[in-house]
Amino acid sequence: MNPLETTQQWRDVVALKPPASLAELFATSPERVQSMTLRVGGLLIDYSKQLLDPKIIEALLSVSLERDVASAFQDMAAGQAINVTERRAVGHMALRSPKGQRCLMNGIDVAPEVHATLDRMATLATAVRSGDYVGATGSRIRTIVNIGIGGSDLGPSMMYEALRSLRSAEISCRFVANVDPADLAANLQGLKPAETLFIVTSKTFTTQETLSNATAAREWLVAALGETAVDKHFVAVSSNAQAVKEFGIDPRNMLAIWDWVGGRFSLPSAVGLAVMIAIGSEAFQEFLIGMHSMDTHARDSVGVDNAPLMLALINIWNSTVLHSRSRVVMPYSFDLRRFPAYLQQLVMESNGKTVRKDGSLVPYATSPVVWGEPGTNAQHAFMQLLHQGTDVVPVDFIGFARSDSSDKNRQGLLFANMLAQSQALAFGQPQDAQQERHRNFSGNRPSTTIVAAELTPRVLGELIALYEHVVFFEGAMWGINSFDQWGVELGKELATQISQNIANVDDATRHNMDASTHTLLQWFSEQQTNTSQSPLH
Ligand code: F6P
Repeated sequence: MNPLETTQQWRDVVALKPPASLAELFATSPERVQSMTLRVGGLLIDYSKQLLDPKIIEALLSVSLERDVASAFQDMAAGQAINVTERRAVGHMALRSPKGQRCLMNGIDVAPEVHATLDRMATLATAVRSGDYVGATGSRIRTIVNIGIGGSDLGPSMMYEALRSLRSAEISCRFVANVDPADLAANLQGLKPAETLFIVTSKTFTTQETLSNATAAREWLVAALGETAVDKHFVAVSSNAQAVKEFGIDPRNMLAIWDWVGGRFSLPSAVGLAVMIAIGSEAFQEFLIGMHSMDTHARDSVGVDNAPLMLALINIWNSTVLHSRSRVVMPYSFDLRRFPAYLQQLVMESNGKTVRKDGSLVPYATSPVVWGEPGTNAQHAFMQLLHQGTDVVPVDFIGFARSDSSDKNRQGLLFANMLAQSQALAFGQPQDAQQERHRNFSGNRPSTTIVAAELTPRVLGELIALYEHVVFFEGAMWGINSFDQWGVELGKELATQISQNIANVDDATRHNMDASTHTLLQWFSEQQTNTSQSPLH
């Protein structure tokens, strides 16, 4: 395949100018909103406030045809090893395929083991929820502590918050990710070892943060209940049975994930176990149904009807062509407050790349920085810059008509605020000659609004799968591999080396380090041995 930048289709896109005035476009095209709104499952996606016109959309779609992104999607669905740098298939769609459907991964049908694992999860979740599963002393489990980081944390912790209204009142979940001892300490506070079940979630079971937190958690449990209690209070989710065993968890207490599931795509696997325990296996199944329906949509819908493809093209238009270097995601939903953090890993670990699949350097910008906070909080924090700053930052708004609260007034206020922000960004305020410049809103600042009636498990599944496939189509357009993450490896290696030198920062260490790192390490070492108390203690 020819490099993207050499194709006529891409040159045509780059030659286009964004519309000068969204206000004018809205005034002159009464059909605009209708034609730029997609309804997929329970989602309504309105991208009419993007800086697009039919000519730009057509040109972007021509590039997607030329790149043949639909075939690339089929290759992923067929279980081909599209993760070329790790020589792996990319199989997260198999995790939510319905029973009875074959899912080939490198030519092998993985559906039976996927469903066997889901069934084991459901059995465990049901037993913990009913109180049939008891700890070493015979007490029922009251708290689940998931220990994991990255994809082994961000997905389940986000989903646990998102589906707050469905959670069992009998059991709560806590999530420990950070190697900072404060994270585990804060999350163990108030817990009774006899009523606590730890889920150590790590695909590789080699992740430093997770293993050191799990070791500390194990010590906490053993100190209270003895070594024999580990069996009843530790479950592992991993693809590495040997390492699980070496850690001291019986592999019979391990739920499998597979190397063809990327960490950031692993939520519908056993990585979601804590959530399944909290909301029940039926609600979890609904979530999988939502994801699967979006998978089918992404595979079967063509061109302008394909929601993830359209959102990917819009992102590429904004970031690669119009040079927006960041993108904001603002859920107008307190329960979705961890969604931006979840998306940061999904998007940036996938598409923060400078080298294409064929080894060539990309001569254009790939993923922008993704960030965000829930509305309305964000309005009183960073929205000033989005309305009047020198950078144009496209926004994804996400909102709901109903919540579990009976307070319709405040839900209305929340939704109204979301619409007000997108309206102000798009249309600004016509400048009045008398008006001070400082009060001027230029408008023409792009946003997409995604809404659903309610944040149900099915809608959450659709939303997450939507963004997963946006990431896929962006990567396919840019020609990069969205499924490796070599960029995090060097930091891990250096952290291991540096941590080995913490106890002994002598002159010999200096030769292996740059002067800055050595000086900081020496300072750290001195501070750690400095016993003088802070005045606050
Ligand atoms: O940050 C790198 C990474 O490899 C992520 O891709 C992954 O989600 C995370 O570490 C945790 O990995 P594991 O589940 O193997 O502990």
